[in-house]
Amino acid sequence: MSQHNNSQGGQAQYSLFSTGPSGPTGEERQRVQQLTAELEHHNYLYHTLDKPEISDEQFDALFRELQTLEDRWPILRSPHSPTLRVGGKLVDGLAKKAHSLQMYGLDNVFSAEQWQDFADRIRRAWDADVNGPLPENFWCDPKLDGLALEIVYVDGTMQEALTRGDGEVGEVVTEAVRTIRTVPLRLAGPGPFPARLEVRGEVVMYKKDFAALNQKQESQGLNVFANPRNAAAGTLRQLDISIVASRPLRFLAYSLGEAQWSPAPACTLQSEVMARLGAYGFLTPPDGRLCHSAQAVEEYAQWVRGHRPEFRMEIDGAVAKLDNLEAQQALGFTARAPRFAVAFKFPAEQAQTLLQNIEIQVGRTGALTPVAVLEPIAVGGVMVSRATLHNEDEIRSRDVRVGDTVIVRRAGDVIPEVVGPVLEKRPVDAKEYVFPHNCPVCREPAYREEGEAAWRCENMSCPAIRLRAISHFVSKAGLDISGVGQKWIEQLVTSGRVQSPVDLFTLTVEELLGFERMGEVLAQKFVDALDKARHTATLPRLISALGIRHVGEQTARTLAAHFQNLDELEKADGEILQSLPDVGPEVASSIRNFFTSPANREQLERFKGLGLWPQGGGKSTPGGANGESAQGESPLPSGPLSGKTILFTGRLSMPRGQAEKLAEAAGATPLGSVSKKLQYLVAGEEAGSKLEKARALGVTVLDETEFMDMLREAKVVSE
Ligand code: IVH
Repeated sequence: MSQHNNSQGGQAQYSLFSTGPSGPTGEERQRVQQLTAELEHHNYLYHTLDKPEISDEQFDALFRELQTLEDRWPILRSPHSPTLRVGGKLVDGLAKKAHSLQMYGLDNVFSAEQWQDFADRIRRAWDADVNGPLPENFWCDPKLDGLALEIVYVDGTMQEALTRGDGEVGEVVTEAVRTIRTVPLRLAGPGPFPARLEVRGEVVMYKKDFAALNQKQESQGLNVFANPRNAAAGTLRQLDISIVASRPLRFLAYSLGEAQWSPAPACTLQSEVMARLGAYGFLTPPDGRLCHSAQAVEEYAQWVRGHRPEFRMEIDGAVAKLDNLEAQQALGFTARAPRFAVAFKFPAEQAQTLLQNIEIQVGRTGALTPVAVLEPIAVGGVMVSRATLHNEDEIRSRDVRVGDTVIVRRAGDVIPEVVGPVLEKRPVDAKEYVFPHNCPVCREPAYREEGEAAWRCENMSCPAIRLRAISHFVSKAGLDISGVGQKWIEQLVTSGRVQSPVDLFTLTVEELLGFERMGEVLAQKFVDALDKARHTATLPRLISALGIRHVGEQTARTLAAHFQNLDELEKADGEILQSLPDVGPEVASSIRNFFTSPANREQLERFKGLGLWPQGGGKSTPGGANGESAQGESPLPSGPLSGKTILFTGRLSMPRGQAEKLAEAAGATPLGSVSKKLQYLVAGEEAGSKLEKARALGVTVLDETEFMDMLREAKVVSE
C-alpha cells in the first residue's frame, strides 16, 4: 500500500493502532473511506442485485474492521456509515411502505469464544438491580438462508406483506406472498385473534424444488438460478404474479414485529410465540428448541452444523434469541441489530483452488455454458473439480481469469459455484477471459441475442447439439427409453452411425455388436427397448422428446391435447398456436421455426415411415397418419371438462395436485394462472385474488361440489 499524504508524516508507517492520542492518522481516515466504499458496494451486490461476490465472513471481517476504527475514533463515523444501516437499497417497480417497527439484521458470531463474548455482553448490559436476575434461557433455531419478509394480520386476516427492504422501508409484495402456500390467508384456530400481528420470517425454496426448477429452466433453454436464495428472491420480486405462483416458495415464521395481542392472550416468551405461530397455521423453522444455558446454545449450534446437509432448505447457521420477551425489550437494539439475539454462523462450505481452465459446454438448445475446470478440492466433504460459471456476464462481473486462485462454494446439495477470484494471488500475466464467439465443437459462429444471457450455437447439425438432443430424446423428459445409456449414445454419435434420434431406430443387434464392450444380451435389450418405444410412444412424449425450444413436458401435453398428430401441429399457424393455454408468442415462434427446418421435416418423415407417429386427442380431422390408430394414448374422455382449461384456487378438501390429476383424467388442462385462456376456475374456501381476477375476466367459477359433479359425469370418479 502506498504512503499517504497525511499531516502526521512518519506516524503513518506504524501499525494502525499505535497512533498517538491526538486523533486518527491519515491512513486510518483513508481506510475508513475505503472500507465504507467497499461495504456499500457489497451491500448493493448482496441486497439489491442478489449477487454477492464475497462470503459472509469476508463481509463481516470488513464490517468489524470498520466498526473497530469508528469505535476508536467516533469522529470518523459518518451518518452514512454502513455500520449504521441495516440492509441495502430497494428495487424499482414495487410499491414501498415503512415497517411499523424496524426489521433489524442480526450480529454474527463465528466461534464458541465469540458466542461466549456475546453472552457476557448480555450479562453486562443487563441491569439486575432494576430487572432482577437475567433469565438465561435461549430459544434457538436454524438460520434460514432466504429472504426476510413481514406479513401483517389484522383481526386474524392477512392484510399485506413487505420485504425487509432497507429495514425501515420494504417493498409491498402482498399479491406475490398470497400465492405462497405456506402463508395462512387467515390465522388458523378458533380465535380470538390479535387485533394486529406482524409475523416475520423467511421465504425459502427447498433444495429439491430448487433443483427441479433449474432443471425445468434449463430444459426450456431459460436461465438457471445460482442458488435457492437467489431463486426465492428473484421469484418474490417478480411483478408477474403467475410466475410467482408457479414457483414452489415457502414461508417459515420465526419472530414478530408489532403485536397488539388483545383480544387474544399475549405471549411473554419466544417459545410461546413459536407455539402460537404453529397453532395459527405457520410453518416454523425445523428443530427449534429451548436451551437453558449459554453452553447448551453452543451445543445446539454444533448439532445444527453437523446435520446441515439433512435440512430440506439451505441454512447458514443457528440463531439464539433470549426467550423472555420482556428481557428482549429491556436489552433493546443497537443501530443495526438486537442485543438479545445473535446468529451463530457456520463457516461457509467454501475453499480456494486454482482455476486451471474455462471450458465451454454446448447444451441441447445450443447454449454455450462456461465451466470452470478446477484443481480438485474438497468443499464441504465433497471433491469438486468443475463448477459452473453460468454465462459471459457472470464471468465478467466476477472477473475470474484462468490462472486465478478462486473461491469455490457449495451450498448444501447445490451445484458448486465459483464465487470470485482471490485478487492478491492473481498471477501478473492472468488475462481477462474472452468469451468465444464460435461454437467450440463445430466452429460455426455463435450468436447472442439482445436480452439473452447465453451465446448459442445455431448449427443444428453441430455434433455436440446432436449428442444432447439424442440424450434428451431417450431421457425421462422424452420417450423415457430405459436400456439406452448415455455412454452408448456417446459412442454411437462419435462413430457417426447415429446423427439424429431417428437413426437409433435403425440400429440392428449385429451392428451394435461391433461396438466395444457390447454383448449379445445388451445389444438385444437395446434394440428391444427402441422397438417398444416405437410402438408405445404417445404424442405428448414424442413432442416433448423433439426438444423444441420452450416446449417442455407441460406444453407438449397441451399441444397433444389439441392436435391429432405432428402433421396437424406442423400446419398450425402462430395465431392458432397462441390461442392455446400457456402458449405465448415466443413458444409459438419456436414451434414454427422447428417445423420450417428442412432437417427437422426430413426427420419427421422418417419417424412416420417407421410407424412412430402417435395420434393425440385433438379434434381436427385425422390425416397423414399411415392409417394407424392411436398408439398407447387412450382416447380423450368425454364430459363437460373435456378439452377445457382449469385452475384451482383457495382451500379444497383434497390436495391441489390431486384435484389437478382428476381434472386431467377428465380431459381438462390445468393452467398456472388466471388469463383469458382460462375456462373454469374452481374456487375453494378463502379464495383470494385469483377469484377476483377470474370474475373480472368473466371466467366460469365452480365450487368444489360442482367440480366433483363434472368428474362424475366424465366417469372419472364413481357416483
Ligand atoms: S430472528 C430480532 N431467526 O437472518 C431477531 N432470523 O442475517 C429477528 N433469519 O434479518 C430475527 N433465520 O431475516 C431469526 N431462525 C431465524 C432466522 C432469521 C434467518 C434472518 C433474519 C435476519 C437475518 C440476519
